[in-house]
Amino acid sequence: MTNEDLKRRVAEIRWFHQIDLGDGVTTPGHDESAAKLRKLRLPARFDGQTVLDIGSWDGFFAFEAERRGAQRVVAMDPACWRPPAWGPRGWGTQQGFRLAHEVLGSRVEPLDIGLPDISPETIGTFDVVFFLGVFYHLPNPWLVLERAASVCRHLLVVETHADLLDHRRAAMAFYPGDEMEGDPSNYWGPNSKALAGMLGAEGFRKVDVYGERRGLRLARAGYRRLRGTRYSPQQGRLVAHAWR
Ligand SMILES: C[S@@+](CC[C@H](N)C(=O)[O-])C[C@H]1O[C@@H](n2cnc3c(N)ncnc32)[C@H](O)[C@@H]1O
Repeated sequence: MTNEDLKRRVAEIRWFHQIDLGDGVTTPGHDESAAKLRKLRLPARFDGQTVLDIGSWDGFFAFEAERRGAQRVVAMDPACWRPPAWGPRGWGTQQGFRLAHEVLGSRVEPLDIGLPDISPETIGTFDVVFFLGVFYHLPNPWLVLERAASVCRHLLVVETHADLLDHRRAAMAFYPGDEMEGDPSNYWGPNSKALAGMLGAEGFRKVDVYGERRGLRLARAGYRRLRGTRYSPQQGRLVAHAWR
């Protein structure tokens, strides 16, 4: 494929992730994928390990696990990869994953399975499981967290929208309708204690939860207010590392 062909094929797709395809071409996703990657604090290498990416979309994190030496990476995303397209503006499809997979010469294995069907019997177990940006989109998130935990042998990485972050007790906000950013697929916002509590209940030996500084949350809420969008300083993002 020439550089011109690559650019043309990239331009035909509505991307979520920003994936460096080489040859000076990065996919124009809305997600700030490299910045998100830094916030995840993933191990520098996955040599010899198996990785499962739940909710992979264009596959940025699955390809990154492969780049970091994973022996086997399995990616799944029933919502985006099965028609109709997923998302508020209906842009989630498998097209981006397929093109990036081809261009990167990737060995990541796409798997077509529903999230509630994840189990050691159906898909086996993995050293590392990514559950990134999916939790808060699910009507029954703990059910799927439990499924993700069931196939995790070593480390489960969860990234999620969060809320009630200054609340002292474990709590989770529920968003009826399109209350959260006008997107009806946003259902839940757990706080750190709730997320840690759920992962602890799933039998993880050690759970580390990383949040954003309160100053950053306050500044972001103020900035959003100026721009006319509602976002509370109690809201933000959380990353959890749950270790077996
Ligand atoms: C914000 S994207 C996150 C993509 C990627 N994991 C990341 O962190 O960049 C949300 C993902 O959740 C998945 N998702 C949303 N609702 C879902 C549902 N009800 N069942 C299964 N997957 C869902 C979407 O397909 C999409 O891949």
